[in-house]
Amino acid sequence: MTVVLEEAFRHVPASDPVADPARRAEMDAILEAHAGRPGAAMVVLNELQSRLGHVSPAMQAYVAQRLRVPVSAIHGVVTFYSYFTIRPRGKHTVKLCMGTACYVGGTPQLIDKAKQLLGISPGDTTADGALTLELCRCVGACSQAPVATVDDEVFGRLRPNKLQQLLRRYQPGGHAAPAKEE
Ligand code: FES
Repeated sequence: MTVVLEEAFRHVPASDPVADPARRAEMDAILEAHAGRPGAAMVVLNELQSRLGHVSPAMQAYVAQRLRVPVSAIHGVVTFYSYFTIRPRGKHTVKLCMGTACYVGGTPQLIDKAKQLLGISPGDTTADGALTLELCRCVGACSQAPVATVDDEVFGRLRPNKLQQLLRRYQPGGHAAPAKEE
């Protein structure tokens, strides 16, 4: 089994947890604790996301092999739930709402501004690991459109200049406990 896995994961990037002995041992411990139990795949994936910060394609394949389930089943879970990410997130996650009210209210302009300020596109993380930029569906604050969230906080009636102020607070040297928008 070990030889088969080594062969299958020979081309995995060195930065991937599957290729790193310490993090792979952590994966193995999680898998061994839950393998064979009902709902093992979901529990294992939750723990991997929580402890290793993401579930890469190689991690998905590794889990599938160890739990003896199709990779497609694991991939389906990871892509269905927004909790899971296939790449490591930054220290803070900024999400711009793409719901109808926010889209009409100015989210496209906020996306342009965020790309300009951070130098990344939605789905990416800044090189310093401070911020991940994502798009999301309606967060239920449509009356304050356009809306962004930073981690668990919601910020409404954003304009590009306010977004700039908001992002600064979460970048190195900023104050990561921002006041609510007025
Ligand atoms: S559409 Fe953005 S919060 Fe509802």
